[in-house]
Amino acid sequence: MKREKYSRYEFLKKMGFQGGALMAVLASCTKPGDAVLESLIVNKNGETVASLDSTKISTKTTTPGTSTGGTSSGGTSSGGTTATSLPVGNVSTADLALVKNPLVKLDLTSSGASPLATAGGYVIANSNSIVIGKTASGDYVAATTTCSHEPKRQVIFNRTEFYCTAHGARFSLTGAALNTIARSGISTYRTANDGKTLIVYA
Ligand code: FES
Repeated sequence: MKREKYSRYEFLKKMGFQGGALMAVLASCTKPGDAVLESLIVNKNGETVASLDSTKISTKTTTPGTSTGGTSSGGTSSGGTTATSLPVGNVSTADLALVKNPLVKLDLTSSGASPLATAGGYVIANSNSIVIGKTASGDYVAATTTCSHEPKRQVIFNRTEFYCTAHGARFSLTGAALNTIARSGISTYRTANDGKTLIVYA
């Protein structure tokens, strides 16, 4: 009976190895100088790959990865930078104009805004929905008047915090609940002014 002679490739293929598994076995049992290997590495298009040089393989992988990195480096973080440039506190009239459609625009020279001339003073604006106060350091702070205990619009400014006159819920100037009556925090808003006009915005 004639005995067949197989190359490693044919032998492994008859053993059931295919595709990537076949290539992996061949690579593991072949020396770098083994010329037969290169001719056996065939990609899905039927083209022969030059060699198993891992550097070349990883280079191919890196190329699309680089473009992905470019996408993520992108604009998203630039967008964040834009958000930080919003005017807060005492700013120029030009910077104040950067905020379009503020929730409140208040003439600080008007009689309605006179409570804000004094630290601890406050006004209620925007159809009774926003309270604006002036702190001891001269900053303007603003929050919703709607309490988190019950949906009553009774939150006022009380010198160093916001306070609900209905049942005594207390909130920090950043809106955090300060006692158990306040079930949770309340919304606060950014403020900016140029000395004449005060705006409140989200
Ligand atoms: S509704 Fe504000 S404390 Fe109850």
